[in-house]
Amino acid sequence: MSGIKIRGTGRGLPERVLTNDDLAKKVDTSDQWIVSRTGIRQRRLCTEETHADLCAAAARAALERGGIRPEELGVCIVATMTPDTLVPSAACTMQRALGLSCDTLCFDLNAACTGFLYALHTAECLLAAAPRKYGLVIGADVFSRVLDWSDRSTCILFGDGAGAAVVEWRAEWPSAGAVLGCAGNDGLLRCPAGGTLSMEGQQVFRFALEAVPWCIAQVLERQGVTAEAVDLFVFHQANARIIDLVAKKYGIPPEKYYKNIQRYGNTSAASIPIALSELEEAGRLPAGTRAMLVGFGGGLTWGGALVEIA
Ligand code: UT7
Repeated sequence: MSGIKIRGTGRGLPERVLTNDDLAKKVDTSDQWIVSRTGIRQRRLCTEETHADLCAAAARAALERGGIRPEELGVCIVATMTPDTLVPSAACTMQRALGLSCDTLCFDLNAACTGFLYALHTAECLLAAAPRKYGLVIGADVFSRVLDWSDRSTCILFGDGAGAAVVEWRAEWPSAGAVLGCAGNDGLLRCPAGGTLSMEGQQVFRFALEAVPWCIAQVLERQGVTAEAVDLFVFHQANARIIDLVAKKYGIPPEKYYKNIQRYGNTSAASIPIALSELEEAGRLPAGTRAMLVGFGGGLTWGGALVEIA
């Protein structure tokens, strides 16, 4: 026994909206193709905003919703592969921006689109030994920095954004029971340091259709519950077709899973916490809600967890 629950969530998004029609002026694509193959209608792009601006906005909103002061945090982890600077890390930048205590553990973690799940699990483990029992987990990516804007097969998919969750750890709470995995493969989804992202879309699509149901099954087994015990499914928003196919496979009714990819595209490590913050704002995360979170992406990596709302 011992685990985390979510106290509050928040998001930070750039102002600028880029529609599919805007993209069709730059590359050979169309709104019809993008919507039918991905579900995406628009995405947000950083112009003035930095990665740190998005993280700070998401974190402040999560702290406020959770009713937690920055100095109460024992751990601050930023899941990202596109920080403003490698040193200081995005998390160290948050230490100053948010006014965290000097003994708060602050570091970044890169598990690509699965980053939020990796960071949530890391926070759960570290909080057991941390000076204070609240943790800040941020997922943030500014993919517009690493996209090849002449490659229509990738540039239409991604958007910039950040999401955050403040978690609380208690010895008497059950673990979120995260299952995390990695199968080293640099050919399917790759972004060299300082370079641009490339992806074998169809193969990643097939991988996702195996990984997501596998994660759900593993988490349910670890928790000793059936899918009926899950109140909400929040999947990484990479493609609406992946989400709908998984929901169909599990017989999950529309009101029990969430999609916002139409508004933001794939925001990588940020997609799950952005979705959580929208759900919380809409009153769909009352205390006691059990949310199944599942992520997958580059690495290849995957992860799932069943997290309760405090
Ligand atoms: O978060 C990280 C994880 N990433 C993912 O989960 C992504 C998973 N993959 C996917 O979501 C899909 O594979 C894509 C959305 C990336 C691509 O959809 P698809 O249905 O697999 O298309 P495709 O790559 O098989 O391409 C089909 C056709 C091709 O033309 P031909 O060869 O049939 O003539 C492409 O050249 O569509 C063409 N195409 C486009 N056409 C218009 C590719 N991109 C575009 C585009 N606009 N943007």
